[in-house]
Amino acid sequence: MKIKNICCIGAGHVGGPTMAVIALKCPDIIVNVVDVNIERINAWNVEDFSNLPIYEPGLDEIVRKCRNKNLFFSNDIFNGIRKADMIFISVNTPTKSKGAGAGQASDLRWIELSTRQIADYSVGHTIVVEKSTLPVRTAETIKDILQSQKKITKNNKKVSFSVLSNPEFLAEGTAINDLLEPDRVLIGGDECKAIEALSKIYENWINPKKILKTNLWSSELSKLTANAFLAQRVSSINSISAICEASGANIKEVTRAIGMDSRIGNEFLKAGPGFGGSCFKKDILNIIYLCKFYGLFEVANYWESVLNINTWQNKRISEIIIRNLFNNLANKKLSILGFSFKANTNDTRESPAINICKDLLKEEAQLAIYDPKVSSKQISKDLNSQSIDLKEINDKKEGWYLTRNIQETFEGADAIIILTDWEEFKSLDFPKISKLMRKPSWIFDTRNIIDLNTLRGIDINVWSLGNN
Ligand code: NAD
Ligand code: UGA
Repeated sequence: MKIKNICCIGAGHVGGPTMAVIALKCPDIIVNVVDVNIERINAWNVEDFSNLPIYEPGLDEIVRKCRNKNLFFSNDIFNGIRKADMIFISVNTPTKSKGAGAGQASDLRWIELSTRQIADYSVGHTIVVEKSTLPVRTAETIKDILQSQKKITKNNKKVSFSVLSNPEFLAEGTAINDLLEPDRVLIGGDECKAIEALSKIYENWINPKKILKTNLWSSELSKLTANAFLAQRVSSINSISAICEASGANIKEVTRAIGMDSRIGNEFLKAGPGFGGSCFKKDILNIIYLCKFYGLFEVANYWESVLNINTWQNKRISEIIIRNLFNNLANKKLSILGFSFKANTNDTRESPAINICKDLLKEEAQLAIYDPKVSSKQISKDLNSQSIDLKEINDKKEGWYLTRNIQETFEGADAIIILTDWEEFKSLDFPKISKLMRKPSWIFDTRNIIDLNTLRGIDINVWSLGNN
């Protein structure tokens, strides 16, 4: 079965980059990315490629090459689905906020809605691919909904479906590289022809040895498990950062020593202010919900502790900052460096910066936030408050404001707090910066990215995570 026309429902962080790469590597396939969010679709179609709705290094170049050739972004969900012989579902699957399982289970309303749209608009045989991260056995629900249409004949054509799971492992900030050179591609399913059709697409640029084929439930669970393991490593090393601070050990030295053990490996061992991003927390909550559903309460508790350490790490850092600034942040200006949940993305979902900034604002601090990519509108949403204006800034009134001029954040500041590991923060000129700050001045490096040797002899106090 040769695929000629793909539709992707959801033009978000996964749908957009994934489909752009498929369009690039499969010029014979027409790829239609559809979304209900008109603003987002308009942004995918902007003339200025530096203003695409999602910032990912390398994405703009691919969109420039393929858009309106074999890659199309539109709100025309009906025609997108109708023309497709393969449909990827890439819609959001956040944690449920109301009703049974609230705070843990996945909210599957967008999955159900898009599945119903597929059931209503598809013609002929369609391969439906779960790209979103889903609880185990969601494919069953999708099949049930699609099955209800199976008997219906449209335009004298029988309507039929195959369902596959093909979870996405890309990380934000490195999405294009992850898609071009993935560690593996996972396809779960029980229909050989459909699995082969999807595999053939990836084989256009990926070694077939890297394409794993499993049953549906293993594929769905593997995605949740991968995220849980990655998050668990971050919580583990963050818990050790606290022991380092208490005992005089150095987290970088410990990390290096254990990372060279090939059984442990050196990836995902960077201590920090806690993991953020839209998925780690949500996917672990999903596992916890699943464990409780199956009566596996000890397993649920185990994964819950990974989340608890993460919240604790955010809180611990806020408390350290407040304590070192004499337990008083009123009338103090703090330079906040970075608001996104990691470098090279404008995404702030679950960013540790949110909790930490909220804690500092409660103490009536003035936060001068610098981030090269995050918008003021987004920070306003995250912090539940409007930014302060020029007069209030000059009067040192409490609140926050965003500036694209990093130097301005240092002027008269009592402390610099590094919250995101943007590359440009690694080479700041601290001898010069220190002169702009009020004394005694502080640097709180929650990402451990400053070379402490460059601070020798400078009149500035330094706290760096796991090294005090
Ligand atoms: P997102 O919120 O950025 O994008 C989802 C898009 O789906 C939105 O633009 C929304 O408007 C659209 N949508 C929702 N319902 C729709 C419908 N019925 N019809 C058309 N469009 C609809 O989400 P995301 O970050 O791309 O994540 C999507 C899924 O991929 C989630 O399950 C997530 O867990 C998973 N995932 C995300 C990442 C990541 O790095 N963000 C990585 C791997 C997997
Ligand atoms: C993560 C996974 O890495 C992807 O494989 C997965 O597809 C994705 O979640 C998803 O399902 O959404 P992402 O959240 O984009 O990707 O970014 P990561 O690089 O995993 O970072 C997550 C958080 O952990 C960030 O806040 C980061 O700063 C933090 N982190 C990461 C550390 O604190 N230390 C580390 O060593 C690594």
